Amino acid sequence: MTENSHQDRVLIFDTTLRDGEQSPGATMTHDEKLEIAAMLDEMGVDIIEAGFPIASEGDFEAVRDIAKNSRNAVICGLARAQFPDIDRAWEAVQHAARPRIHTFIGTSPLHRDITKLTQDEMVERIEATVAHARNLCDNVQWSPMDATRTEHDYLCRVVETAIKAGATTINIPDTVGYTAPRESAKLIEMLLERVPGADQIVFATHCHNDLGMATANALAAVEAGARQIECTINGLGERAGNTALEEVVMALKVRNDIMPFQTGIDTTRIMGLSRKVATVSGFPVQFNKAIVGKNAFAHESGIHQDGVLKNAETFEIMRPADIGLNATNLVMGKHSGRAALRSKMKELGFDLGDNQLKDVFVRFKALADRKKEVYDDDLLALMRDSDLDAEHDRIQVKFLRVICGTEAPQSADLILSIDGVEHRVTAQGDGPVDATFAAVKKLVEHHAHLELYQVHAVTGGTDAQATVSVRLSEDGKIATGQASDTDTVVASAKAYVNALNRLMVRREKTKPEGNLAAI
Ligand code: KIV
Ligand code: ZN
Repeated sequence: MTENSHQDRVLIFDTTLRDGEQSPGATMTHDEKLEIAAMLDEMGVDIIEAGFPIASEGDFEAVRDIAKNSRNAVICGLARAQFPDIDRAWEAVQHAARPRIHTFIGTSPLHRDITKLTQDEMVERIEATVAHARNLCDNVQWSPMDATRTEHDYLCRVVETAIKAGATTINIPDTVGYTAPRESAKLIEMLLERVPGADQIVFATHCHNDLGMATANALAAVEAGARQIECTINGLGERAGNTALEEVVMALKVRNDIMPFQTGIDTTRIMGLSRKVATVSGFPVQFNKAIVGKNAFAHESGIHQDGVLKNAETFEIMRPADIGLNATNLVMGKHSGRAALRSKMKELGFDLGDNQLKDVFVRFKALADRKKEVYDDDLLALMRDSDLDAEHDRIQVKFLRVICGTEAPQSADLILSIDGVEHRVTAQGDGPVDATFAAVKKLVEHHAHLELYQVHAVTGGTDAQATVSVRLSEDGKIATGQASDTDTVVASAKAYVNALNRLMVRREKTKPEGNLAAI
């Protein structure tokens, strides 16, 4: 029985941990990847693309451990059309109850130019690599990268080759977000019609959002016969991102009358995952983002508010509870206890273990002492705060005192712990943040370029926490750090240090022996 034997069932393939993590600056730690994978599995995602095992030791270990911990989902690892890639992917995913190898090669004229393969040579490569993957694993996905810019005759030929060599899923990527809904549908129809054996495999659609049409293109492909949608939480991904999981799943649920397809997703977990991915990736969700944006269920105008109060359906096509958004933003305060905090954090997508709860509770109490009311966003900011990872971070902020005001220059007195040893320094600068960053730079010499420094208030009021984002780039590697505090300068120092820690992780991906001196 093939996975698409129920014609109205659409498989959800989540690639947040692979394509999503390829967003510049969205590096996630090993533990964060494991947590997200567990949440995706619980939510009912059919296939989790956990990473690209040959890309680095870190990627390999993440895919292997996600495979070991998987429950229901198929765990998939990506591989180029090369034997060592495929072997490494298998080494990582073989631990899963249901493993899959996903191998790909660019088939459009532009990609054939890069690989310097003739059409015939590429066909031979596809035949050999897919057969090799199939010898290792009975669940093999193959993708002709840049399919939407590949000549139709050649696309039919390579897809037929991959099916004959043993591929069980054929993914049709719109790698550069170039297609449009009608064309996306026609391409799947054309392949189903022309390729021998096409009815024996599952067609998948993988759309990028460069023209803002990724979700529409994916749904059009499904209407034409694709039965697997590749997507990411919050639409995270290269450039403008991928099809957003929450968009396709909710579109299929809300408009089931015109798109009668089922997914196995428990939609009430959407908000928890969205928040979790936004927190760990450092990519906040835009306020007006469909489904998961802060304003997606907010009604500002009097007419809308009045209508919604009388009958929510007047201006809402789905209920907040459908995506796991509680109607009330329950305010926590300094009298709230551990149990309340644990259940609130669970609602926000964080299943805290006892030790983590202990740590978060101490920090929550400290915040509640400074702030009368602690809102959901404050708690999310608390989770984002780099202190939570402190025990794993090589650089940690231990102390900061800044002198600022009308008399320049401003100065910062800073203690950082670096690989367990405390170092103290003072530095001056043009303003408190500049002085603080100069102090960090004195202690951690590096050549990274500051690409972005951004502050926003988490909630209202002068006692609001500030969330600071810092983006650094060095030799093409980008790392984003975030931290929150009621003191903007402290948040800035922590965000800067958080970005430096992440830059080191990024470096270690390509250079396992990465050390501080190498930063
Ligand atoms: O966008 C793309 O083409 C990809 C492939 C690796 C499937 O992500
Ligand atoms: Zn992609």
